[in-house]
Amino acid sequence: MGYLPITITFISFIFLFLTRYNQLVHADSPTLVPPYSCDITNPLTKSYTFCNLNLTTIQRAKDIVSRLTLDEKLAQLVNTAPAIPRLGIHSYQWWSEALHGVADYGKGIRLNGNVTIKAATIFPQVILTAASFDSKLWYRISKVIGTEARAVYNAGQAEGMTFWAPNINIFRDPRWGRGQETAGEDPLVSAKYAVSFVRGLQGDSFEGGKLNEDRLKASACCKHFTAYDLDNWKGVDRFDFDANVTLQDLADTYQPPFHSCIVQGRSSGIMCAYNRVNGIPNCADYNLLTNTARKKWNFNGYITSDCSAVDIIHDRQGYAKAPEDAVADVLQAGMDVECGDYFTSHSKSAVLQKKVPISQIDRALHNLFSIRIRLGLFDGHPTKLKYGKIGPNRVCSKQNLNIALEAARSGIVLLKNAASILPLPKSTDSIVVIGPNANSSSQVVLGNYFGRPCNLVTILQGFENYSDNLLYHPGCSDGTKCVSAEIDRAVEVAKVVDYVVLVMGLDQSQESEGHDRDDLELPGKQQELINSVAKASKRPVILVLFCGGPVDISFAKVDDKIGGILWAGYPGELGGMALAQVVFGDYNPGGRLPMTWYPKDFIKIPMTDMRMRADPSSGYPGRTYRFYTGPKVYEFGYGLSYSNYSYNFISVKNNNLHINQSTTYSILEKSQTIHYKLVSELGKKACKTMSISVTLGITNTGSMAGKHPVLLFVKPKKGRNGNPVKQLVGFESVTVEGGGKGEVGFEVSVCEHLSRANESGVKVIEEGGYLFLVGELEYSINITL
Ligand SMILES: *[C@@H]1O[C@H](CO)[C@@H](O)[C@H](O)[C@H]1NC(C)=O
Ligand SMILES: *[C@@H]1O[C@H](CO)[C@@H](O)[C@H](O)[C@H]1NC(C)=O
Ligand SMILES: *[C@@H]1O[C@H](CO)[C@@H](O)[C@H](O)[C@H]1NC(C)=O
Ligand SMILES: *[C@@H]1O[C@H](CO)[C@@H](O)[C@H](O)[C@H]1NC(C)=O
Ligand SMILES: *[C@@H]1O[C@H](CO)[C@@H](O)[C@H](O)[C@H]1NC(C)=O
Ligand SMILES: *[C@@H]1O[C@H](CO)[C@@H](O)[C@H](O)[C@H]1NC(C)=O
Ligand SMILES: *[C@@H]1O[C@H](CO)[C@@H](O)[C@H](O)[C@H]1NC(C)=O
Ligand SMILES: *[C@@H]1O[C@H](CO)[C@@H](O)[C@H](O)[C@H]1NC(C)=O
Repeated sequence: MGYLPITITFISFIFLFLTRYNQLVHADSPTLVPPYSCDITNPLTKSYTFCNLNLTTIQRAKDIVSRLTLDEKLAQLVNTAPAIPRLGIHSYQWWSEALHGVADYGKGIRLNGNVTIKAATIFPQVILTAASFDSKLWYRISKVIGTEARAVYNAGQAEGMTFWAPNINIFRDPRWGRGQETAGEDPLVSAKYAVSFVRGLQGDSFEGGKLNEDRLKASACCKHFTAYDLDNWKGVDRFDFDANVTLQDLADTYQPPFHSCIVQGRSSGIMCAYNRVNGIPNCADYNLLTNTARKKWNFNGYITSDCSAVDIIHDRQGYAKAPEDAVADVLQAGMDVECGDYFTSHSKSAVLQKKVPISQIDRALHNLFSIRIRLGLFDGHPTKLKYGKIGPNRVCSKQNLNIALEAARSGIVLLKNAASILPLPKSTDSIVVIGPNANSSSQVVLGNYFGRPCNLVTILQGFENYSDNLLYHPGCSDGTKCVSAEIDRAVEVAKVVDYVVLVMGLDQSQESEGHDRDDLELPGKQQELINSVAKASKRPVILVLFCGGPVDISFAKVDDKIGGILWAGYPGELGGMALAQVVFGDYNPGGRLPMTWYPKDFIKIPMTDMRMRADPSSGYPGRTYRFYTGPKVYEFGYGLSYSNYSYNFISVKNNNLHINQSTTYSILEKSQTIHYKLVSELGKKACKTMSISVTLGITNTGSMAGKHPVLLFVKPKKGRNGNPVKQLVGFESVTVEGGGKGEVGFEVSVCEHLSRANESGVKVIEEGGYLFLVGELEYSINITL
């Protein structure tokens, strides 16, 4: 979002103002009345079929649509949907944000001014939360976000309950300014993140638990559908970008998170992206929105455009000849609501020119009103509803903040710990904290898309708790840009203290929405500052990095005077506390990198090249741990701890799997015949029975208890062009006492995890030997057909 004409802001302001004004007049307590329709005290609305709670959502939505005039219908198709006073229908704001906490960044949530709830729990930016590899934690986080969102609604501070999160695009290129918002580069991790997040936010249970198909606590929206992962790189921006994506990459990289979001998560929303894919704008792609999402995956929610994604189809991409064609294209493709106001100007003329049939408009309205009904907004006064009693005391509660702290601690990754310099002693030794991110403002530790935090703890505040003798120096005079640095001064301080902690990295001025990086190095004089301070200090220094995307810190990896390195993403409102607990040993770090850290030369390949697979003939190295063949600074899944862990395979059931069902096909490749079956021909039933149960033992060989994510990969014994080098097939977090043992189990589905997409994007299972990998340990399995 972000590319929104000023007019929309203005219009929505008026609507917000009018509805607020209305409510204030009727309010008899400082708490505002939440917006709702079907007031039973009003005899008129009581008589409406759509207010009859005994009917299904479909029947009720149909009734609403049948009562609207053409002008009323068209007015509902934008994010700021006006009230329909003659039917007692309230206004609605479709655009709210909750990427890592309820935010007032969108238009539907108000946290400032004369309101009861002035803040919400701000969790770490998603890329750090992903590093915990803990899907249960992800679920608990979004459950809190859903609860806080309801509380905000019940307090009359929400004009809508549709949140445009999660961002489940693949972190394909390290330069991407919005990589920080994602769960990283692996499709399985993103898919599981999507399912956890959606279920928590929408009020469903998790991990085999029951789905509540109809009622919504809050509505999630998986974005940006699809293959969106470039914002603005060397003048190529997301509005103009036409992503050239192969069917194979689409099938096994770009689409799986969206498939899971819809099929397992049952998301009630999706957002189509700005960019084109192979020439077709996503929001105008019938094959994507209708054939794939609705027909193949049974999506039953609403589809919104990204903000101003409809105008660009005509104005910038030239795909539609006239504005009316753009309106017609997106409605015919299956989009339901526009974020923007292009429809306000052009939908009427599109109808008059017969470019859009009324049936398409009715379909969109039906989807939209269904969501509002499912949210309980047509059930009368919300205090009587399932979620109506969630009060302001549920926001920023101790429990919620503890989860924010836990998320930050679980995500922080220990990248280097030479001679076990970390943790630092808790004592009266003197410490200096140096660096542009050391006195972290909310702008740094919260990343982007954040709300108003309940209780932000800065890095300095966190460290003060452990040291009576804490000094601070910013190092750079101009923030992370660090064009101008006070190196001599920082060196003077570093010389005289016992320990030095450098808090460096990036912030939103370096990587953000609308702004991709040009290189992978630390900005300005940061590296020079680190080197000079490290050289002068008594002991090896500790380097802490705040950043969403990776930076090439090869220099620090090999420098003996840099003893410890920690990656802290953007750790959220309690990030300062979490970091201090890790640095001083009150918490044993266990986070693992959710993305590859590439060397700086990686930027030789254009960001616009969407190919995942390496192309040895042209020197193209491929992308992400699944395909990248070049050198790495740190690899996907890397992360140390204050303990060590060793693994053993306790049991692997079904390790010699014979698939006798369905046809066996074969292809000849480099004079080698490869036999395979099609996942689609095996069918859901057969696929369900074909899984390999793996039980793994974990031993903590260190002395400190720790939470440790176990990552299980699979790798074909014979590497082949186009096949992933290896692929994550499961991950599970386990807490093990020092010197203790633990166990985790995985159910590896042959159809889902051992299949691959062939070049036509068809999922196939190949005969042959495979290896399960966990750490350095391997286990051989066989598939015969
Ligand atoms: C805040 O709103 C309440 C009613 O909702 C009103 O009673 C109170 O006077 C307002 N306070 C301020 C400072 O405007
Ligand atoms: C809904 O069903 C209940 C129980 O069957 C009935 O008592 C009530 O009158 C019905 N309400 C409406 C509006 O039809
Ligand atoms: C898209 O990429 C493929 C290679 O993956 C290439 O053959 C083709 O020419 C490209 N198409 C366009 C329009 O750039
Ligand atoms: C840290 O920043 C805050 C506000 O940005 C400022 O008030 C405070 O003085 C700074 N702390 C130090 C030690 O400079
Ligand atoms: C300091 O430590 C105490 C005790 O562990 C804790 O309750 C408090 O929240 C900490 N404060 C900060 C700012 O980290
Ligand atoms: C972990 O094991 C490595 C390699 O054996 C060793 O160098 C390191 O000191 C151990 N670390 C801890 C914390 O036990
Ligand atoms: C395929 O294998 C299953 C169990 O492994 C067996 O029950 C079934 O009879 C076999 N079907 C054929 C056609 O061999
Ligand atoms: C992928 O598999 C399908 C089904 O067997 C086949 O029709 C297609 O030719 C295969 N594509 C490639 C590039 O091998």
